[in-house]
Amino acid sequence: MIKQNFSKCAKHYHTNNTIQRQIIAKYTHTMDGKVVLDLGCGDGSLYQMASLAGYVGIDFSEEMLALHPSNDVYLFDFDTEECWQFIQNTPFDMLVSFSSLQWSKDLSFVFQNIAALHKPYLVTLFSANTFKTIWQITSSKSPIYSIQDILRYAPADSKYEISHFRLYFDDKIKMFKYITQTGIKGTTNLTYTQVKRLLHDYPLNYLEFESITLSNMLHNANMS
Ligand SMILES: C[S@@+](CC[C@H](N)C(=O)[O-])C[C@H]1O[C@@H](n2cnc3c(N)ncnc32)[C@H](O)[C@@H]1O
Repeated sequence: MIKQNFSKCAKHYHTNNTIQRQIIAKYTHTMDGKVVLDLGCGDGSLYQMASLAGYVGIDFSEEMLALHPSNDVYLFDFDTEECWQFIQNTPFDMLVSFSSLQWSKDLSFVFQNIAALHKPYLVTLFSANTFKTIWQITSSKSPIYSIQDILRYAPADSKYEISHFRLYFDDKIKMFKYITQTGIKGTTNLTYTQVKRLLHDYPLNYLEFESITLSNMLHNANMS
């Protein structure tokens, strides 16, 4: 389901990933001159934005990888042993992941594997407070992990930073179309009635995003 969503949205992804690109831009300085392994690399935003010495990308969507400008991209599901065997046998300096791990079926498994590498890492994932007002109005639950769950599974050596973003729209139809076009709708199945209520009751002219960055290599004062 998640894979199908991203594959379907691959062609439009680069025009709809404003927030995801803002998140990457915040951390590209940590990767300067490094060989980076990019988990859930998508269509290659990070590869295009960072000054890297080398790059390996991993994603489970063939459609996303077909759009990626690097040839060093590999088709794996990060929820599988095969993926982590491949990663263990691949030389790189730093593991990164942007806006992808919230879709893991087993975040504890992914974080255990990241910790077992004993390498620098920096991962940013969206949390359940993304689209918070939509979940409140429709009395439904976000399909992705809460900050509490993420921190419960996080590697013991990680520091973290929570960020909030807003994406403004001049009309509500465009706003809700955006959700479907980026593949972030994920596993939510809002009914016709819920969508109708949302179009009527949604009080904001922006969408809310919350992300958390976990890393064993940042020591900023505002990391806790
Ligand atoms: C929102 S996109 C982010 C892409 C890129 N990292 C960026 O920041 O622009 C999420 C990506 O994660 C990939 N993905 C989701 N679950 C995955 C999994 N279990 N294994 C590998 N890739 C996955 C999707 O195919 C999609 O390309």
